[in-house]
Amino acid sequence: MLVQSSFVTLALVFCAAASPVAEGSGTIIPFQKRNGFVKEDGWFDHDRAVQQVVRDRNKHRNNLMNLERNEGSHAFNELTPIQGAHIRPVANYSAMYKAGNDKRQAESLTDEGGDQYWAGNIAIGTPGQTFLIDFDTGSADLWVPSVNCTSSYCSKKHKYNPASSSTEARKSGSFSIQYGDGSTVSGPVYTDSVSVAGVSVKNQYFSPVSTLSSMFGTQADDGILGMAFPAISNLRQSPFFNTAKTQGAVKTGVFGFKLAKSGSELYLGGTDSSQYSGSIEYHSVTGSGFWQIANAKLYIGTKTIESGIQTIIDSGTTIIYGPPSQVQAFYKNIPGSKLYDSANGFYSYPCNSAPSNVGFNWGGKTWTISASNFNFGQVSSTQCIGAIAGQDLGLGSNTWLLGDSFMKNVYSVFSFDKNSVGFATLR
Ligand SMILES: *[C@@H]1O[C@H](CO)[C@@H](O)[C@H](O)[C@H]1NC(C)=O
Ligand SMILES: *[C@@H]1O[C@H](CO)[C@@H](O)[C@H](O)[C@H]1NC(C)=O
Repeated sequence: MLVQSSFVTLALVFCAAASPVAEGSGTIIPFQKRNGFVKEDGWFDHDRAVQQVVRDRNKHRNNLMNLERNEGSHAFNELTPIQGAHIRPVANYSAMYKAGNDKRQAESLTDEGGDQYWAGNIAIGTPGQTFLIDFDTGSADLWVPSVNCTSSYCSKKHKYNPASSSTEARKSGSFSIQYGDGSTVSGPVYTDSVSVAGVSVKNQYFSPVSTLSSMFGTQADDGILGMAFPAISNLRQSPFFNTAKTQGAVKTGVFGFKLAKSGSELYLGGTDSSQYSGSIEYHSVTGSGFWQIANAKLYIGTKTIESGIQTIIDSGTTIIYGPPSQVQAFYKNIPGSKLYDSANGFYSYPCNSAPSNVGFNWGGKTWTISASNFNFGQVSSTQCIGAIAGQDLGLGSNTWLLGDSFMKNVYSVFSFDKNSVGFATLR
């Protein structure tokens, strides 16, 4: 067992407590659920899905620009030893929305009104100001809206006010990410105390943003806490969890995710062994910026669809992305499937014969995606949209990005201590 038995006891106690707190040991942050793209009536929410594609394209564009600036362009070779990562132009939401727009007449108009992000609470400042946060293993900076954000996109957000914190400090420089609606998420740079379910750090770098892009205005979460490596930090500073390890607020540089319809949680400073059975299968991280593991195979049943692929585990998206040509080859193996929206890379397949045996393998167990996690909802009386989409995110022509449609099927472990990603069987 890789987990000390004391974690088991603590985990059970925390589950029962309203606000779980622990010192030095693992700490649980319960999440609100994410509905993904399936509306209440079972249909595919195409608009939200396109917004997500544009966000993901621009998020990873920004990550690559940060990586190049922080590490030099040789980091791109480590990212994709086989074929070139490259910084793509900004993905334009209105253009991609329009390109996929001819399909919309076929869709139901019910608004699911749900939240796409696995979100949990954090507190910034002294006394703590509370924010609902998307914990993102695919980026490395913390940002929340500030009192200076007066646009309508911030009207429903919690806003950080440094004047109400006795521990704030303004730093030099600025933070900015360009999104595909012509706007940026941008603001100054501050440090302050940050607390996540009892794990408290001092002098954490973050940005209280004064502009927010339209795509964030409709989300329930206020901001993002990045959990990837410092090499892709826009602020060029230690991300929250790394600061927590350095300051001794967590004992181990390990965190674990359980993403599910209910009981979703992030566990900081170890793994929550009440959530999984058996041992954790670890694989070494390659490259310097992402939770990336190499040499994966993609299966449908016993048939190998791809091998030797790179994979990045990204909790900040629902979608599983592959290079467009590999995704096309994947759907050729699902009878009755067809391209649905070429601009955004979505395919449909017959709802009544969903593949229940799509899986990724890194040399150990094959970790399969359940039929319900593969289904993004229906687009006609017979066809449903698959969770795997073809899109060039700039991460390389052999790189797949596995979002929560994959993560929901496993207990996933992110270890800075072992420089590894691990998977275990959910209980
Ligand atoms: C808000 O704007 C004022 C005026 O430009 C500036 O002095 C202050 O530092 C800003 N605060 C934040 C949190 O951005
Ligand atoms: C996005 O594309 C539309 C055309 O569909 C264009 O009018 C608009 O200027 C573009 N926006 C940006 C920010 O490039």
